[in-house]
Amino acid sequence: MIDKYYLTTAIDYVNGAPHIGHAYEKILTDIIARHYSLRTDNMFFLTGTDEHGIKIQKTAASQGITPKELCDMNSQKFKDAWKALDINYNKFIRTTDQDHEKIVQKIFQKLKDKGDIYKHEYEGWYCQGCECFLNPKDLTEDGLCPDHQKKPDIVKEENYFFKLSAYKNAIIKHIKEHPDFIVPSFRANEVLNQLEDIQDISVSRSKENVGWGIDILDDPNQSIYVWIDALSNYITAIGYDPDGSSEQFKQLWPVDVHVIGKDILKFHSIYWIGILMALDLPLPKHIFAHGWITIDETKMSKSLGNVVSPTSVLENFELQNADAFRYYMATSAPCGRDGNYSDIDFKEKVNAHLANSMGNLLNRSLSMLVKYFDGGIKEEFLNNRSKEAEGLLKTALGTIKIVENHFNHFEIQEAALEIIGLVDATNKFVTDNAPWTLAKEEKMTECGQVLATVLEVMCIISSLIYPYCPNIASDMAKQLCYDVMKKYDDITTDNIKVGKLISKEDIHPVFLRVDSELADKSEKVKA
Ligand code: ME8
Ligand code: MG
Repeated sequence: MIDKYYLTTAIDYVNGAPHIGHAYEKILTDIIARHYSLRTDNMFFLTGTDEHGIKIQKTAASQGITPKELCDMNSQKFKDAWKALDINYNKFIRTTDQDHEKIVQKIFQKLKDKGDIYKHEYEGWYCQGCECFLNPKDLTEDGLCPDHQKKPDIVKEENYFFKLSAYKNAIIKHIKEHPDFIVPSFRANEVLNQLEDIQDISVSRSKENVGWGIDILDDPNQSIYVWIDALSNYITAIGYDPDGSSEQFKQLWPVDVHVIGKDILKFHSIYWIGILMALDLPLPKHIFAHGWITIDETKMSKSLGNVVSPTSVLENFELQNADAFRYYMATSAPCGRDGNYSDIDFKEKVNAHLANSMGNLLNRSLSMLVKYFDGGIKEEFLNNRSKEAEGLLKTALGTIKIVENHFNHFEIQEAALEIIGLVDATNKFVTDNAPWTLAKEEKMTECGQVLATVLEVMCIISSLIYPYCPNIASDMAKQLCYDVMKKYDDITTDNIKVGKLISKEDIHPVFLRVDSELADKSEKVKA
């Protein structure tokens, strides 16, 4: 058992509603969280919304409402979407929460008192999309922000600056000495390159220009803007306080992983690390930068009109819960690579993996148990198993270790493929041993042994698939009289017990095939 696991997502800007990209990140994180909830009794999963800054101020103004009204309305949309997707966070922080704001002010003050924050007259290129100043050398040939394809504003202001340059060498050293700090490791070089010409960063804006921010205690003309405010959520949410932190903070910090998108890796692996060093706090164990999701291989954008809301997928396919969508998203890309969503691909994959391979396997094994043995398990089904059956059980236990190891490296798709591999091996075991033939030949003990072995492996499969598909897994476990919340360390191969396991009327499919006509319909709606 692991003594604790603390993980966070990026906090989303509330200038719009959640889209499938936001959902991807929250699903990945929820899967990691649920996986670790089976490896420790002390797992804590934080998510939330990022609510200050010029972008939100302007969006609110354009809609004729106050920034606070916009934040309340949109942050609720994120909460509603996460509920529909079974994102089981422990805390949802909003950067407009008063206790967060108060601690951010104290953090700012502490850094200022220490001399790590100083005032400086500055002129630079500000990108509203990024909510940060850009280095002129990072602009495109036409002078646009490469991420947002927009011309940054020229801003000339007196701002407060954080002395990031003072921590440059220590950050480089940390990254080089901890090869698993940035995941996937191929991104570490990008970060090291960015560190080469890193400069002190602006951490406040004049109130006149950005009114929607956190006030600086002793300087009413400046407000703290997004990054120092946003990044601090990871510590304020669990009770950090420069004057004495909570027990929860002492227990949970340092964070085990910050799950974020590749576009904000610089802020997390450079800015945030500098701030933590300045605060004398231990550093995160891992920063996992996931890739981006495209729609039908095209970048999502408001102007293209192809922004997909995560809940619309559930509605279009009339899904009873989010399991299939979660499974699809989680397996859409290898660790850290970009993924894609398409209706057709969604339908094909979840029908193949969840209905045909996994769901069917359970359904037909239980049905045979009822047909041949009235749903009962006899003592002799559990003893003297064939070599092949012992081999399959050993593979199943081994898969738990392999899956754990993938999760240690945030290889969520890779882990799922292992699980499906175990499902395939079990299907092959059924085909090879043909329990229906054994029954015909009246070899009833052998037939029962085959079925009991398969059901035993299905218990383990339900535990493994639980983080991805909590509803399907619980339903599988229920039909197997198995406790799906059993810790991975405690899983054995004697879950199936002698006695009646199930009656005919209690057998039902755990996943209904997605209807192909519905996919066609939703294609048309989008076009
Ligand atoms: O960056 N595919 O907020 P945000 C995958 N508030 N992930 C995507 C995506 C896509 N198409 N689009 C966005 C912010 N994301 C800041 C974060 S953290 C202290 C502050 C991811 O709403 C993106 O990479 O622009 C990021 O991790 C998250 O959604 C929120 O993006
Ligand atoms: Mg963004």
